Amino acid sequence: MKKFLFIVLALAAMIVPCVQAEITYSKDIAPIIQRECQSCHRQGEVAPFALTDYQDAKAWATEIAEYTKARLMPPWKPAKGFGHFKNERRLSEKEIQMLTDWAEAGAPAGDLSKTPPNPKFHNGWKLGDPDHIVEMPVEYEIEPEGEDEYRHFIIPTNFDTDMFVQAVDVQPGNRKTVHHVILYLDTKGQGRERAAKDPKPGYVTEGTGPGIDIAGSLGGWAPGLQPYVLPEGVGYLLPKGADIVMQVHYYRTGHTEHDQSRVALYFNKTEKTAPLQIDSAINSEFKIPAGEKKFAVQASRRVKKDAYLLATMPHMHLLGRDMQIIATPPTGDPIELIWIQDWDFNWQDIYYYRKPIFLPAGTNVSLVAHFDNSASNPANPHNPPVPVGWGDKTTDEMCIGFLYMVDAGEYQPVE
Ligand code: HEC
Repeated sequence: MKKFLFIVLALAAMIVPCVQAEITYSKDIAPIIQRECQSCHRQGEVAPFALTDYQDAKAWATEIAEYTKARLMPPWKPAKGFGHFKNERRLSEKEIQMLTDWAEAGAPAGDLSKTPPNPKFHNGWKLGDPDHIVEMPVEYEIEPEGEDEYRHFIIPTNFDTDMFVQAVDVQPGNRKTVHHVILYLDTKGQGRERAAKDPKPGYVTEGTGPGIDIAGSLGGWAPGLQPYVLPEGVGYLLPKGADIVMQVHYYRTGHTEHDQSRVALYFNKTEKTAPLQIDSAINSEFKIPAGEKKFAVQASRRVKKDAYLLATMPHMHLLGRDMQIIATPPTGDPIELIWIQDWDFNWQDIYYYRKPIFLPAGTNVSLVAHFDNSASNPANPHNPPVPVGWGDKTTDEMCIGFLYMVDAGEYQPVE
């Protein structure tokens, strides 16, 4: 009898952990969605539908399970384990399993009165009161139809000295039409010259670039991006008297839209600030034959002085499929910097490392990218395919690994 009881107890002990409590929206699912989805899936944001209450989540439960399982959502491009980044948008296997199980169980609500409150999203400046605000000089009207527009607005700055900018926060004036914003710096007045010849505010170029000799950049904004504060002691150099050339990529919405985007600047407060240097490994000499499915392009860059790498930003256009960047120091093992296996022109980002990566002088930063110029690539803008090489237009190609570096002689990360 005793033995029998023992067996029953042992069996019970084995079974109990397998019988899981029901997964419910209020207890398990809401916290995941709040943390990982609502930055984009809420009213007025980039995603096509909101996920801000139980009804939303239930209506989309099957798709939520599918898209998260396929790791299409939340959008996050760098391959796992190849570089470690800040603000990674990646669900754990356990969270994905929970979303799947929940959807399969018919999306049970649980006790909705116990649902944690949605996080508060700032519609104001995310980093607090800015030191300085700049904005497009006028409200711009975007016509309902046509190709996407890349317009460059000139914003003069009037500081008495060179300034260092530690953080930038962009507030798109109209999220329905603003796809991204890039802030270029112009010290030669070339942007003004171009704008003077354009009947509308600012100017457009043949392609997606600013079309001038830029003196630097202040970064930019794309949907879902949080403003990034550079490490203490590092800043974007904003040269005295420079114009900010603000590139805004507009979508057409089928309606007349208006936009006047604004930018908050936060200056470095440190006594000595090292300028952020945006370097690159770049190949501008390739030609991708028509019909070629997997065309490899390589580029490399030798680091001249000891430096810290803060971030990388791969850049290609529509035919890009993947890009891998590796740093090989003169001695020691290669360092895996980033690998985008499923390139998407519409999800570009600057990827900041959790810790700055030391690259000693002589390090070779090399990249390999592949392009698909076949008719079976749905992103191919040419039908039938034609040979494609370097160029500014979206329908041309580029192959760049931008490297956000700082001279190790001027900056030491604090551990
Ligand atoms: C950085 C912004 C962003 C985040 C974060 C994000 N999404 Fe999305 N989501 C989008 C955008 C934009 C689209 C539509 C375009 C696309 O598919 O790329 C989309 C589309 C979807 C779709 C496809 C709907 C359809 O068309 O059938 C699903 C499902 C989805 N998201 C679920 C989620 C879930 C679940 C999360 C969180 C775990 C999440 N998303 C996080 C931006 C985001």
